[in-house]
Amino acid sequence: MKHVFAFVACLAVFAPASLAAQHDYPEIEVARGGQFFRGNCAGCHGQDGDLVDGVRLTDPQFLGARTEAQLIAVIMSGVPGTTMPPSNYSDLQARNIVAYLTDLSETGRGAPADGDPARGRALVETMGCLNCHAIGRDGSPVGPDLSAIGLVRRTDELAESLTDPGAVILPENRYVRVVAGGVTVTGRLLNHDRVTVHMIDSGERLRTFAKAGLDAFEILEESPMPAFADRLDAGQLDDVLSYLVSLKGSTP
Ligand code: HEC
Ligand code: HEC
Repeated sequence: MKHVFAFVACLAVFAPASLAAQHDYPEIEVARGGQFFRGNCAGCHGQDGDLVDGVRLTDPQFLGARTEAQLIAVIMSGVPGTTMPPSNYSDLQARNIVAYLTDLSETGRGAPADGDPARGRALVETMGCLNCHAIGRDGSPVGPDLSAIGLVRRTDELAESLTDPGAVILPENRYVRVVAGGVTVTGRLLNHDRVTVHMIDSGERLRTFAKAGLDAFEILEESPMPAFADRLDAGQLDDVLSYLVSLKGSTP
């Protein structure tokens, strides 16, 4: 057993630049890829990418033995003669999935927080989270709905949202500011095209503006969410995380 270990360690050290070492993927690509992976791959491969025999998608050695281009090709064309289906992802989407798998292989899955979900729930209710977020039937549509956040984010991603909210803002969570007739309205962007902007304003109203009539239209770089790094001690952060991780959208 010891020999095997030493051998594996040598491989890791002397192998030609692994996939992970070649690329430093932007966080937004990793986050996007995670969404694609959970929606389209985890059903067969599992959240940790290790459910299909002989295919360990988040294992550094498995990934290191393949180039990014090879992985993208497999994702696009599937493995003929097996249940691994072809897909119609764009090159960028497939690359995002590779970015996600690479990130997982490097960081390991965010360890489940060992806090107390009931205490976490109480904290979420008293710290004003529901002024901006919906959980089940409670809360507000101003920020993203958290009812199933435990299905779509890893623990480490959730921790970052709480301590450094601006670090990664997903495209669907963007905020906009428009100025119309001298009045400034800020809200969550639902969608926009060449003609109109749809948003939810801070009073939770759905608002639509004709772009032609706007004095200004700006997508905000900063997250409107306050950072909770100073307001939660380590134990409380674990409590909140264990509650968020437990939210899987099963509320009727
Ligand atoms: C319907 C089930 C299913 C789905 C969905 C699926 N896979 Fe697979 N995948 C498999 C199976 C089964 C294999 C093993 C094929 C074989 O025997 O070689 C495989 C193999 C692979 C391989 C290994 C190919 C190699 O180089 O050996 C990769 C990489 C992979 N899948 C990635 C993905 C990704 C990424 C997604 C989502 C976009 C995905 N798969 C979706 C079933 C699936
Ligand atoms: C003033 C409004 C506001 C408050 C208060 C607030 N948030 Fe947020 N939150 C947002 C907005 C807006 C976003 C989306 C932008 C971003 O990702 O930073 C967000 C993002 C998040 C995300 C990431 C969502 C995703 O889809 O990845 C989590 C998790 C989260 N908030 C949890 C919390 C928790 C828990 C609390 C209370 C401790 C809280 N928020 C308090 C506005 C708020």
